[in-house]
Amino acid sequence: MSRPSKKMAREHRLYSMPGDELASRKPVVVRRYRGFTRINHWITAACMILLLLSGFAFFHPSLYWLTGLFGGGQTTRWLHPIIGLVLVVSFFGLFVQMWRLNLPVREDAEWSRKIGDVIRGNEENLPELGKYNAGQKLVFWAMAGLILIMVVSGVIIWEQYIPLWRDFAPGLASIPARQVAVIVHAAAAFCSVLVFVIHVYAAIWTRGTIRAMTRGTVTGGWAFRHHRKWLRELAGRGTTRPAE
Ligand code: HEM
Repeated sequence: MSRPSKKMAREHRLYSMPGDELASRKPVVVRRYRGFTRINHWITAACMILLLLSGFAFFHPSLYWLTGLFGGGQTTRWLHPIIGLVLVVSFFGLFVQMWRLNLPVREDAEWSRKIGDVIRGNEENLPELGKYNAGQKLVFWAMAGLILIMVVSGVIIWEQYIPLWRDFAPGLASIPARQVAVIVHAAAAFCSVLVFVIHVYAAIWTRGTIRAMTRGTVTGGWAFRHHRKWLRELAGRGTTRPAE
């Protein structure tokens, strides 16, 4: 290609020099979650959905029909807390893998202040981020806290354990303690529905995110746009595995 004339250079500012060119390559794909983490996530998600459905069934008589999904009222009653325990173990698996990257860092405050730009999609005004943004971190810690509250309050109201509490922690078996536990359990469940809806909405709203948890990968463009520090770190490692 001929060199641009001086006139052209004056009229259109030049940013490139001879030899610069776009080289077409296969699209860059970035691995975000290994198979183990994805399975762990989807087990957690399935448990949460089953818990919400069975929990709603107990919440109000008008929703009792939902017990039909689980084989009737009695089955739902013993199944709900068991699924709860599976959720606790499963979420703990996610927690161990992710807690470090969900610790707050300086750019989280700036990102939160500029939430208007996040919603309007003005990424150029936002700070470069690591693997998670402040919203995702909030979801992570909110879920961790709510699950903890739900398991503690849930075990207190688990009929089967009432004799155990009577022997070892009589206070927990008292009617007032159980009344408080029921309210705490329902309030935490209500909040977890909100967090769940926000989480799923954000995952769908941020285009190209769902595949992170289905295929395990995102595009290079997605990573550059939303989690540039994370991408830079991966690029800096200089190791690239062949795409599967
Ligand atoms: C149908 C329901 C769900 C969908 C569609 C969904 C989707 C996703 C997607 C796409 C990601 C990847 C986001 C990213 O890496 O940027 C993700 C991450 C994550 N999900 Fe879910 N999810 C669901 C349910 C749940 C539930 C019920 C929980 C917890 C109880 C949960 C906990 C997490 C956590 C801890 C992460 C890591 C990122 C973060 O801290 O936000 N997810 N989810």
